Amino acid sequence: MPKIVFIERNGTPREVDAPLGSTVLQVARCHDIDIEGACEGSLACSTCHVIVEADWYDLLKEPSEDEDDMLDLAFNLTKTSRLGCQIIVTEELDGLTVKLPAATRNLLLG
Ligand code: FES
Repeated sequence: MPKIVFIERNGTPREVDAPLGSTVLQVARCHDIDIEGACEGSLACSTCHVIVEADWYDLLKEPSEDEDDMLDLAFNLTKTSRLGCQIIVTEELDGLTVKLPAATRNLLLG
């Protein structure tokens, strides 16, 4: 099974199992990693913001326009920021490393 490494806010890396087809947000929740995901993956918040390690970023599918719009509202936006609910685990992403941002903004829309 693929693994994802989450770098927690205090800098601690946590490697966890990531079932194929699940999202980074779902994986985080299964392992009590502190990602909020206020809108449950419906692209209406930015509380599932993660910062993808540069080496991994290019392996991800391009973000949709809706994801980009939501990311614009995220705190601590970086060039490799993504929404955790939009990254789907594949074999190719085994070892994916993402960092939790220092803070998120809970701007649940609609
Ligand atoms: S959980 Fe709201 S956009 Fe990802």
